[in-house]
Amino acid sequence: MRLLLGMMIVITTSCTEIFKTELLPIKDCAGDSDICSYTDSIQPIFDMYCTRCHGNQGRLDAGLDLTSRFALMSGSVKGQVIVESDSENSILWQRISNESNPMPPVDNPMIHENYINMIAKWIHAGAIDN
Ligand code: HEC
Repeated sequence: MRLLLGMMIVITTSCTEIFKTELLPIKDCAGDSDICSYTDSIQPIFDMYCTRCHGNQGRLDAGLDLTSRFALMSGSVKGQVIVESDSENSILWQRISNESNPMPPVDNPMIHENYINMIAKWIHAGAIDN
């Protein structure tokens, strides 16, 4: 017969990870020779400025979902918001660069000019899934 004395199990439960939602860093691609990657540069811009109204938490303003390129390319309730290779005629670019009818709407954090240029570059290069 053996006696096991002093045996103790300590269970530590870590809850620190549960509520962590970190935004991905936005990769700068504004330089002349840079190519803008949708995954590294464009989606993170939408995640920072747009998806809380367009796709996240059950909210889909104007029927426009900006949580993925696939959803973006399927447009809003009114139709397409991106014209491939033509930012001037893309409703999305028209709205983010329009001071009188802006996106994000007034009283929301304004999108940085550098990011507006990066989105224009990505559209000009064909709005591809890169
Ligand atoms: C505070 C909520 C909110 C945020 C943040 C927001 N939007 Fe919107 N967005 C709306 C609402 C509401 C509408 C519909 C009314 C309108 O067109 O002004 C809309 C409409 C749009 C439209 C027009 C769709 C169409 O077919 O006419 C585009 C494009 C758009 N948003 C893009 C964006 C982008 C890109 C961002 C981020 C840079 C953004 N929005 C951030 C609320 C928001």
